[in-house]
Amino acid sequence: MKRVLLIVSGGIAAFKALELIRLLRKAGHGVTCVLTDNGGQFVTPLSLQALSENKVYTALFSLTDESEMGHIQLSRAADLVVVAPATANILAKMAAGLADDLASTVLLATDKPVLVAPAMNVRMWLHPATQANMATLAARGVRVIGPDEGAMACNEFGPGRMSEPPAIAAAIEALLTPPAERLAGPLSGRHVIVTSGPTHEPIDPVRYIANRSSGRQGHAIAGALAALGARVTLISGPVSMPDPAGVSVTRVESAREMLAACQAALPADAAVFAAAVADWRVANAAEGKIKKQPGAAAPALALIPNPDILATIAAAGPNRPRLVVGFAAETDDLLANAQAKLVRKNADFIVANDVSPETGIMGGAENAVHLISAAGVETWPRLAKEAVAARLAARIAEGLT
Ligand code: C5P
Repeated sequence: MKRVLLIVSGGIAAFKALELIRLLRKAGHGVTCVLTDNGGQFVTPLSLQALSENKVYTALFSLTDESEMGHIQLSRAADLVVVAPATANILAKMAAGLADDLASTVLLATDKPVLVAPAMNVRMWLHPATQANMATLAARGVRVIGPDEGAMACNEFGPGRMSEPPAIAAAIEALLTPPAERLAGPLSGRHVIVTSGPTHEPIDPVRYIANRSSGRQGHAIAGALAALGARVTLISGPVSMPDPAGVSVTRVESAREMLAACQAALPADAAVFAAAVADWRVANAAEGKIKKQPGAAAPALALIPNPDILATIAAAGPNRPRLVVGFAAETDDLLANAQAKLVRKNADFIVANDVSPETGIMGGAENAVHLISAAGVETWPRLAKEAVAARLAARIAEGLT
């Protein structure tokens, strides 16, 4: 059993710590909680205690009692220290090395890996002070998950929402799995290419055509494959997602760059094409910025088709990966379209999902997919994107054995 010391600091996202504890316990990990005074305004020690089935530590001075565990011991008895939510304040204290309560003292005293899940107002997150603190912490090896972008409790929109508990639990799992165990994973010795995110197709040097893909599903798949021991090359369009743990990332912008990066990454045992590649690019992208001419008509953009990366890599040939997985994001006739795509693109699996706006799947935390292969259609329940990724990685491992 691995032991997680979970520090819950103050913020509306503190309620999500309860779900995180439940997920960690379900995965068989021991959880001990430290609750800051501000955190205690949002969740009670009793709920943390009930879910963790462990004593909850709240104040520094209660630990001076000899019968209690000292803060040094508390910080060292864990395999991993997680701060979720991590407020701007606790991140600043960590960066500065302040120790004025139990949580900050534990963080200064620990010699264990630390993962933080920031949660705060978008302006606080984007403030140069917070960004400088994050850079300091990253340089010291502190791992970060999130924050996500979205609507916030303070009625603003932008980065600052704490990552969802399944995503934090997956990051914890990756950090708790020692490299040696990863080496023994079912995909050890296998190379898998994953594409993720949107592509940007230039109109001129400052303008481009893009789409709403967040890269969340593709990045989760790359992380899940790495967790099973695969050597993963993630080829990503422009996204604001952090790099998944243990994955080598190549950043590209356009579809043509993505294809070139995929070809350069071959040979591979499997390839997963989760990117939302632009179908068209501007035929005559301008070398210089197109000027607005007073009174002149708007420029016409002629579009030409982009290469189909999936179809190109999946075409029969000596370099074809043994298992090729494509995605079909559709708003109409999902299964029929996905089945046609399986054949047309010569893929082995198609992961089909309905991305109608009312599903909230595009850019959201969950996905509801069907796995289509020559054997038929399997319908999976609606799951966190990390859980879809874990299932798909397991199927890829099966497919390669
Ligand atoms: O044909 P459609 O765009 O719906 O196919 C989606 C699948 O094909 C996804 O797996 C996507 O990553 C891949 N694709 C690609 N290159 C393109 C277009 C789609 O790899 N130019």
